[in-house]
Amino acid sequence: MRKITMQEVERHNTPDDCWVVINGKVYDLSVFQKEHPGGSPIITNNAGKDVSNLFNDVHPEDIVERLLTPEACVGVVDMDTVDPAIHVVAGKEKALPRSQQQSSAPAESEVPQDRQWQKPPIEAMLNTFDFESVASRTMTEEGWGYYSSGGDDEITLRENHTAFQRIWLKPRILVNVKNIDLTTSILGVKSSLPLYLSATALGKLADEEGELAISRAAASSEVIYMLPTLSSFSLDEMLGVRQPGQVQFGQLYVNSQRGRTEEYVKRLEDGGVKAIFVTVDAPQLGRREKDMRNKFTKSTDVQKGDDVKRSEGVARAISEFIDPSLCWDDITWLKGITTLPIILKGVGCGLDTVLAYQMGCDGVVLSNHGGRQLDTARSAIEILPEAIAALDEHDSNWRSRFEVFIDGGIRRGSDVFKAIALGATAVGIGRPVLYSLAAYGQAGVERMCSLFKDELTMVMRLMGTPTIADISEDHVLYSNLMTHVPAQARDHLQLDTYEPLRPVSRI
Ligand code: LAC
Repeated sequence: MRKITMQEVERHNTPDDCWVVINGKVYDLSVFQKEHPGGSPIITNNAGKDVSNLFNDVHPEDIVERLLTPEACVGVVDMDTVDPAIHVVAGKEKALPRSQQQSSAPAESEVPQDRQWQKPPIEAMLNTFDFESVASRTMTEEGWGYYSSGGDDEITLRENHTAFQRIWLKPRILVNVKNIDLTTSILGVKSSLPLYLSATALGKLADEEGELAISRAAASSEVIYMLPTLSSFSLDEMLGVRQPGQVQFGQLYVNSQRGRTEEYVKRLEDGGVKAIFVTVDAPQLGRREKDMRNKFTKSTDVQKGDDVKRSEGVARAISEFIDPSLCWDDITWLKGITTLPIILKGVGCGLDTVLAYQMGCDGVVLSNHGGRQLDTARSAIEILPEAIAALDEHDSNWRSRFEVFIDGGIRRGSDVFKAIALGATAVGIGRPVLYSLAAYGQAGVERMCSLFKDELTMVMRLMGTPTIADISEDHVLYSNLMTHVPAQARDHLQLDTYEPLRPVSRI
């Protein structure tokens, strides 16, 4: 590989002739900078420099191979010619948690000015909303904005949890419930409860250990973790922390360059993951305004002369890597490049559930992507009875080779119970993982999982269902589920934790 002096790198310092040094290698990013998920200015403003520190702060190691063509690497830098004082761009300073930022301080009327917020001990966490409320104080604006935001008016985001309140429970009495068994099988893999940790992007926004801490917590909690494609750590690093006997699934965003997806699928397969969940509800990422406003505010310093539209650049740019042309025909291609079970993640109706079954998929996740995509799309729990009925009508034997999962809004053991009662094999959780991680690291995720176990145990005992197999449709009343009448009781925990969208005049 050609050895290049830093003086030569320095000369390529314009957007159209843009070289940077990353970990000793010189890259020509003149084309890539236009589609960089973090926006082009962060690259073009540092053209001709060594950006390793900046890069390593937020990216997994293998992202260069995943996103750049081999020709983009033009050589290795002659380290003797690099002067850190002149050429090296420092990493970003650690952002302040929201509790120490002026803008996120609680309203004066709520908290006396002299009282400092103190993070409660982990033992004080009694439910998933507790973690969310702590995370809302301890996370940076950037992280909180990205994780907490939903599409458009965030109607679906809130509906995801609220929908569970339109299902009522019908307990049975005088069943021997001394022993409660939460264990189940998910795609042939044993799990300590019918719940898995779903893929969520950029785990380092929650905690330095990001996906690695989640994977370790999944192992000790004996639940399955679905490794995200858009992770903060590399696939090898995530696979590397797998404990003996632990099972990981893999999530897949199909890239416009299919060769890269084929390579990624092979790495998943070689790495020993047991199933692939293909995301099918995000041909373009949704408009998440809390997130977009953050991006805009932050970038004003560095993106001089930019207009407001720049704030939409990130979602659009990330979408560059997700192939919007993905269609049913590609499922045949996917099945041809792997022997792993394929599950479609993000199915929104009974018809598509049956199509997935007919195409030979192994399951679906009914999901609206945590309310981050199409606003006013129905909640997964509402779609579930429709999907099960459609499958039943198509083939009464479907359960022998197909499983239905749901995710979105699952915050209580009773939510898990209701999903199982309506025919789901298991549920996925996303934000509760990120929030418990952001609040207390790996221990937080472990406690959050144990709270789900506690709650589900209690619900199963009170319902007279000692095993998962005992839970059936007879235990729930869901005639109201599709009618969207408001829940009768207000859920104060949810409402007080939920941070409303604000019009720009109030920000
Ligand atoms: C998101 C993608 C990356 O929802 O899954 O932000």
